[in-house]
Amino acid sequence: MTHEDYKRLAIEALEYSYSPYSHFRVGACLVCENGEVFQGANFENASLGATICAERCAASNAIIKGNRRFKSIYISCDSGYAWPCGICRQVMNEFKSCDMQIWVGGKEVEWKMMKLSQLLPESFGPEDLGV
Ligand code: THU
Repeated sequence: MTHEDYKRLAIEALEYSYSPYSHFRVGACLVCENGEVFQGANFENASLGATICAERCAASNAIIKGNRRFKSIYISCDSGYAWPCGICRQVMNEFKSCDMQIWVGGKEVEWKMMKLSQLLPESFGPEDLGV
């Protein structure tokens, strides 16, 4: 699979978004170290704090299939950019296999990339607890 496939899968995942409260659809394509890919979409809840972002949805899909080593992620929304929230950055920090590439973009905007270390500097992670 290519970079273009990952972008396409992230945009395709928008269709799975359940976002009746914010009307802000987010789709993700998570690429694991072994090449497997997992899509995710945000799914909201009437109790708003129970909402799950697209990135953590994709992470859950990977974890449940035994994939704990994340290489990169592609995140799309309908317009503009959806940089990952703080909780999702922390979740990716737990399972990164390298300094993850975080790509954001979509149908109407060019894709941009930043490294997880740029988005979450001086992070607290598994190594701090001896894991
Ligand atoms: N959201 C994501 O799924 N990922 C992000 O990177 C930012 C925010 C979702 C959560 C919520 O359903 C909606 O976008 C508005 O915050």
